[in-house]
Amino acid sequence: MTKSPKHACVIGWPIEHSRSPAIHGYWLARYGIDGTYTKRAVPPDTVETFFTSLASEGLSGCNVTIPFKETAFRLVDERDASATAVGAANTLWIEGGKLHASNTDTYGYMTYLGLEAEDWSRRDAPVSILGAGGAARAIIHGFLEAGVSEIRLFNRSAERAEVLAQAFGPRIKVMPWDQRSRASTEASVLVNTTSVGLKGAGSLDLDFTDFHPDCIVSDIVYAPLETGLIRDARRHGLRTVDGLGMLLHQAVPGFEKWFGVRPEVTDELYDRIAADIEGA
Ligand code: ATR
Repeated sequence: MTKSPKHACVIGWPIEHSRSPAIHGYWLARYGIDGTYTKRAVPPDTVETFFTSLASEGLSGCNVTIPFKETAFRLVDERDASATAVGAANTLWIEGGKLHASNTDTYGYMTYLGLEAEDWSRRDAPVSILGAGGAARAIIHGFLEAGVSEIRLFNRSAERAEVLAQAFGPRIKVMPWDQRSRASTEASVLVNTTSVGLKGAGSLDLDFTDFHPDCIVSDIVYAPLETGLIRDARRHGLRTVDGLGMLLHQAVPGFEKWFGVRPEVTDELYDRIAADIEGA
């Protein structure tokens, strides 16, 4: 019996910017899978219909990007722990006739951090997180699951950080934005989850002078690949973790669900997407 082709896609509004088709297209070719991964612009007033007709349209599932991550979370039948913690979903698949959802940003971030800086948790020290949006939620959930005892949360508007502290509990300590350097000198990891640095815009103005030499500085912004934050941290001799690896690794669980193969994030894939970003 021949297997029928499998289909998945990414939906958003707009969707042109998405790099997901390039990532999944690379894996479909590499593993010789009979399937497609496309992008679809879905007008907001039709998104509910899209989710309810996913299976009848012949799709195994989809990725969901802005502005539909919260809507997807609300409309699915089953949610995993990460989607529940974040309150938003980026990966949907059909299983046992039901629509399931995950938020794979947690997996993507923690996996790449573990690969690039295996010893990140060696010192029992706080983790510093800048920003309090959806990406911050996914990463907070990851660090809490990994067992860190304290997360220092810095956000330009403190109220938003307080909401997260309420949601995630006493291991989250909200700190004033203007103390993001001074209160991070002992941090094991400092992560930027804000949009500052995207396309070179703005600066987080961190002073790394007194940072612990083993601190790992990571940025979820991946365009440009070397953000101002990463450049400054490198100049101070600190180890850094870029945002592209998170993007690539967050795609792994979805591909496996839809196409039945757990794909590998290869250097070739990294270089290909990096070239695309640098050339954009
Ligand atoms: P996402 O869901 O992708 O994390 P978001 O919900 O729009 O995106 O959150 C963006 C984050 O970047 C917020 O923490 C935001 O801070 P505020 O809550 O104070 O708005 C932060 N951010 C955006 N521009 C910023 C800037 N110029 N300086 C500091 N923080 C900024």
